[in-house]
Amino acid sequence: MVYKKSIRRIGILTGGGDCPGLNAVIRGVTKPAEDYGLTVFGILDGFEGLVEGKAKELTNKDVSGILARGGTILGSSNKGDPFHWPVEKDGKIEIVDKSKDALENYINWGLDALIAIGGDGTMHISKKLSEMGMNIVGVPKTIDNDLEATDLTFGHDSAVFVVSEALDRLHTTAASHHRVLVAEVMGRYAGWIALNGGIAGGADIILIPEIPFSYEKVFAKIRERELKGKRFSLVCVAEGAKPIGGQLVTRGTDIKRTDPIQLGGIGKVVADKIEEQMNRETRVTVLGHLQRGGSPTPFDRILSTKFGAFAIDLVAQKKFGRMVALKGTEIKSVKIEDAISRQKLVKPDDQAVITARRVGISFGD
Ligand code: F6P
Repeated sequence: MVYKKSIRRIGILTGGGDCPGLNAVIRGVTKPAEDYGLTVFGILDGFEGLVEGKAKELTNKDVSGILARGGTILGSSNKGDPFHWPVEKDGKIEIVDKSKDALENYINWGLDALIAIGGDGTMHISKKLSEMGMNIVGVPKTIDNDLEATDLTFGHDSAVFVVSEALDRLHTTAASHHRVLVAEVMGRYAGWIALNGGIAGGADIILIPEIPFSYEKVFAKIRERELKGKRFSLVCVAEGAKPIGGQLVTRGTDIKRTDPIQLGGIGKVVADKIEEQMNRETRVTVLGHLQRGGSPTPFDRILSTKFGAFAIDLVAQKKFGRMVALKGTEIKSVKIEDAISRQKLVKPDDQAVITARRVGISFGD
């Protein structure tokens, strides 16, 4: 690897919703940065800090002991898009472009490069800032695992771990009370968390956005189990799942965010239908932000550390406009635009879907 002397000071930020492993990436960047003689500048609260000029220097001491800590020591925000900046005017929210302020701070802080850790929103912003002249390297984060061009994002494994454990716990109480228990999980428009968490936690029915479901098929699976003497069922439903011909269930909209739609509520809709139409005692558990909080799994700690160290190598090699990516078992880099060309969704013929079906899991289709 070639160290070009002109890179001296780099910025790092965590954008969008947090997830386990962010601190491990910050540490993975900051520790090796010293070997390159680089100063690391931590930008606070994601792109919000870049626009508003909030930052602090990060040393090895600051990142010591944070490997296993959830969240992000830098803070994050999913409302700080410089190109979609909400300002209040006469009691109304207006969206303005603050990207020039972001560029000004980047220049005034003397940054030679910026490592942006985030999901699709962060990568979209990074691409636009790259076009304005910033030297950016992206690191793919999200529990949803919906970013193209990387086999996995860090944070996903930790979320799947939470879902799996929750389903294990729901399993014993469902069996004791002969109930149908529905667990609603996150994932936005992708079903990766429900699919992987559902398989790991032994769900009987998994409902994902990519495979629209029919209530009749869900009821049929519950009856099929009952005929085999299984008087309980576990349903793992992704927040973005919807019945054939039906609509997404949302809990609100927030125009301050790049994606204003806030998903949530399908779990209750499904549970109510089962209770009303099958007359089976049914309960719903919404796992919510439990899936985002807490300590990363060992897998995510390793992946995040590798991502961080690889990102600083890319900076040192002046390979900008690129995102770190997992390809098979190796860490490589891809163009940021390749990561945002489309969302990575579950293909109905994905090996995991086929395997799930083979072990008797229904997708309600
Ligand atoms: O993208 C991560 C995620 O946790 C999604 O799975 C979920 O839909 C969304 O963020 C929730 O966002 P918020 O924490 O802003 O409610």
